[in-house]
Amino acid sequence: MTMRAMQSEILRLKKERGVLVLAHSYERREVVEIADVTGDSYRLACAAKNAKEREVLVCGVRFMAETVKILSPEKRVILSEKNAGCPMAEQLSAEELAKLKEIYPHAAVAAYVNTTARLKALADVCVTSSSAVKVLSRLDAKEILFVPDSHLGRYCRKRLPDKIFYFYEGGCPVHLQAQKSDVERMKAEYPEALLLAHPECRDEIVDAADYVGSTSGIMDFVKTSDATEFIIGTENTIAEHLRFEYPEKKFIPLSEELVCADMRLTTLKSVLNCLSSGGEEITLDEPLRLAAKRSLDKMIELGG
Ligand code: 13P
Ligand code: SF4
Repeated sequence: MTMRAMQSEILRLKKERGVLVLAHSYERREVVEIADVTGDSYRLACAAKNAKEREVLVCGVRFMAETVKILSPEKRVILSEKNAGCPMAEQLSAEELAKLKEIYPHAAVAAYVNTTARLKALADVCVTSSSAVKVLSRLDAKEILFVPDSHLGRYCRKRLPDKIFYFYEGGCPVHLQAQKSDVERMKAEYPEALLLAHPECRDEIVDAADYVGSTSGIMDFVKTSDATEFIIGTENTIAEHLRFEYPEKKFIPLSEELVCADMRLTTLKSVLNCLSSGGEEITLDEPLRLAAKRSLDKMIELGG
């Protein structure tokens, strides 16, 4: 079957079965093309919550599908590939977080959405890369224990000097591949290019960036920018999507190493399999779901 034939069959099946397909911006071009909604973690979570469809197929990684299920328990939520996880979401266990809470008893726990449901259940509020600063600025807490991504955490600390932050030293193994030396090399080669970076990048990369934002933020920045050359400091699929959307502009990956293998697992075949034979349904114990929902609801309440 050709790629186009597979896409047509997917479009037919999702219409016939009334399935909403969400695809994170890191997904392959051909997968993004058949999705109803694409974007960053925050956009996907809100889209699923407001959707009328009873079935949602999440093309992304496990925590994204879990987030949809936590917010929309009445929906049947399918993850496109059962092995697609986020290594960062597994870095800190619920037991370790419970110990950290004892060390910082007065701190509110802010959990990056890239976490398991068990961790969200122990948090006071969740954040995404696009909502973190806004959510934490509105959070009624002076002290914040930020887990697990210390890079996003320190990005927030710089913008919220009135708050006291404590960190768990976790991070995204993909974004941490990019080094300061990559910035120096790329800036020397492309002196006119703007550096657009995800806040999961190392602090020195974030500090050197012309714009820092979520995956959707980076794409939206390009849309409104007059610049013609950009160094892209996030997963390399974003540079591919941007090249496709703006063929007249130049997009240079900050590092060839910025590849999230988990996000690449989903193919058109995965989507077709899920739509034709059911796929892996996400299920959560109700007490766990309700506990995790508190921190996600708080994020949406404060994030708008
Ligand atoms: P976004 O919320 O920016 O989509 O980030 C999710 C992610 O996993 C980035 O690595
Ligand atoms: Fe997780 Fe990093 Fe992949 Fe995002 S890029 S899904 S944070 S491993």
